[in-house]
Amino acid sequence: MFSNRRYLGVCTALAVLASACTKASQPCPQATGLIGDGVARFAPAAVSCSALPASMALVEPRFVEGSIPAEWRTRPTFSTDGDRAHATVSIEAGTSLYGTGETAGPLLRNGAITETWAEQPFRNPPPTGLSPLEYDDDFLNLYQAHPWVLAVRADGSSFGVLADTTYRTRIDLTSGIELSADVAFPVIVIEGATPQEVLTRLSELTGTIELPPLWSLGYQQARWSYIPDAKVREVADEFRARSIPCDVLWIDIDYMDGFRIFTFDEERFPDPSGLNDYLHATGFKSVWILDPGVKVEPGYFVYDEGLEGDHFIRRPEGELFVEGSWPGDSVWPDYTNPETRAWWASYIPDLLGNGIDGLWIDLNEPSIVFPPGVPFPGDLLHVGGGGLPPDTHARYHNAYGLLMSEATLDGMKMARPERRPFLLSRSSFLGGHRYAAMWTGDNSARWDHLHWSVTMTLNMGLSGQPFAGPDIGGFFGSPSPSLYAHWIGVGGFFPFSRTHTIQLSEPQEPWSYGPEVEAIARMAIERRYRMLPYLYTLFREASLSGLPVWRPVFFADPADASLREEDHAFLIGADVLVEPVLTEADPHEFRIPSGIWRELTMVGEDPSSTPELPVMKLRGGAILPLGRVVQSTTEALLDPLTLMVSLDAEGRATGVLYEDDGEGYGYQTGDYLLTTYSAVQSGDRVEVGVASEEGERERPARMVTVIVVTDSGSFQASGADGSTIGVSLGGT
Ligand code: NOJ
Repeated sequence: MFSNRRYLGVCTALAVLASACTKASQPCPQATGLIGDGVARFAPAAVSCSALPASMALVEPRFVEGSIPAEWRTRPTFSTDGDRAHATVSIEAGTSLYGTGETAGPLLRNGAITETWAEQPFRNPPPTGLSPLEYDDDFLNLYQAHPWVLAVRADGSSFGVLADTTYRTRIDLTSGIELSADVAFPVIVIEGATPQEVLTRLSELTGTIELPPLWSLGYQQARWSYIPDAKVREVADEFRARSIPCDVLWIDIDYMDGFRIFTFDEERFPDPSGLNDYLHATGFKSVWILDPGVKVEPGYFVYDEGLEGDHFIRRPEGELFVEGSWPGDSVWPDYTNPETRAWWASYIPDLLGNGIDGLWIDLNEPSIVFPPGVPFPGDLLHVGGGGLPPDTHARYHNAYGLLMSEATLDGMKMARPERRPFLLSRSSFLGGHRYAAMWTGDNSARWDHLHWSVTMTLNMGLSGQPFAGPDIGGFFGSPSPSLYAHWIGVGGFFPFSRTHTIQLSEPQEPWSYGPEVEAIARMAIERRYRMLPYLYTLFREASLSGLPVWRPVFFADPADASLREEDHAFLIGADVLVEPVLTEADPHEFRIPSGIWRELTMVGEDPSSTPELPVMKLRGGAILPLGRVVQSTTEALLDPLTLMVSLDAEGRATGVLYEDDGEGYGYQTGDYLLTTYSAVQSGDRVEVGVASEEGERERPARMVTVIVVTDSGSFQASGADGSTIGVSLGGT
């Protein structure tokens, strides 16, 4: 089939050569018009057919399907100011703004300015007492770039605005929505009756995440770095000895030989396969890091082969772009070139052949390590190909992480086509969620960063990326026992749940702060494992509908203006409300949605003596599927299955459970089971059973414990899954 991306690439190349690429000579898609259900693209006159950028955010090119109806509510106004192109969208009073990707600070973005420019935050000189790389809410840009704003009007209806350009874009929300860049760009507007509908429509354009392997939803432990390999084994043993559940250990850059990617240090990590065998035997998976910088060293195979294939970024004059990364002088692959992506991918099978389960790609803004803070020049050349036009780094900088993610994921799929891959990337562009999960980079062991780890995860979810989380405990510095306890308390619930810290910092394992914090951490992580069936069900929903796993509280009632600023509490899916303590001193006053929300406990915690663990509430009308506490997802999670029931005012509740083999692709051909459970009260009896099911996977023979949570206590009964289980609210 004719690819529009290819056409646009050819078109731009031709335009450069001949300044001509006309509608008459090629089937040019019009720039402005409806491009989907509830989705319109607007383009200023300067965005001609020939200059219409091949969108990096969209899964596939969108063609105009019709003209924009007269009643369409949200229309950008385009203007220019010198060389600067602007698109302005005015907002009605009472409109709340969210999204803009990875930004520190409050959830609500009205009044904020963000710039899309993927970058390690760097401040020279740093404020007193801080490292130059510690970010704050005054940074306009961080590692990821999402030129996207989600707006919720006073009546709860919603729209989203996407500046469809990879060039550096300023998103000024101080009065309405003002987007500007050094190039003219089209704007895509999505309308929806609710913010949920807008996000689903966004995912129809930009794609959804792939269903991740179940193990990647387990708790994970990292540090820079566990060295040597014996230390990794020791940490693994410690988790098991202390019965703190954990699925994944992370291996940072010191495993490499002199930081040469795709190599192992012979002294410190002489036998990576042996290490991974050990981890696998104790129920762990491992994720190993990769950086894009390739050491300049004749004789080093990656450098030699990369040179031979001409895979590295060059300066405008043609020489290689060489700067300092961890291994010293380095060069960077030009992932815009499909041949370079294939070359990069070709190294992955050997790497994974050492029993490595997942990969972590870092420094891919891309960032120079030495000297710190030096940017990649905008005039570097990218060769493009396969639909991407050759162009400068100014155009492709923001897409570098996305393209590196795509290349790395391709390699993982090539290596193990039967296994779902897990990839984490520090940098990306809107749409990069198709390839990799993200974490919020090098945060600090500070209370405000604990708070922002919640708001950033929520805004990533509102920007198309549901699989997100912070370094629990903070990367820079060492948290106090109280800060770590509160962070892991809420951290057990992050969609991506991993403790990580910098080199040479104090130990940051759950047991590093004494027995009291260890007990809290264990409970927090046990809560996560009990919640995994629900989380996995939500990840499946995200993979189909683009709805985030963590959701702001206002999602429960988008028209309730009082909920719009609530950014301590959050929802997991639609049914679980979490009220974490994110402040050291001043208590936060939670604004919670109206309706029935009943408090939940699930691992024997006593809420009055464990304030570090967030209060959890279950929506009236919901059934929450819970597993049992296991030490890793290699153990059977769902026998017994627990159904926590919170009835609505009519005495009814429903809930959904998705299950499959957790690893492969069998689910795509029917090997899954999607069960809707329902509960109905009649008198003082509640009957719970299967209302409907989907999928070809057989229902396992297992016991189900039903717990009905009421305002006057909990009542329970057990029975076989698939049967009707009656719970007497009289207590027997
Ligand atoms: C920077 C990353 O953000 C951090 O997580 C990692 O530990 C270091 N690079 C070392 O690889």
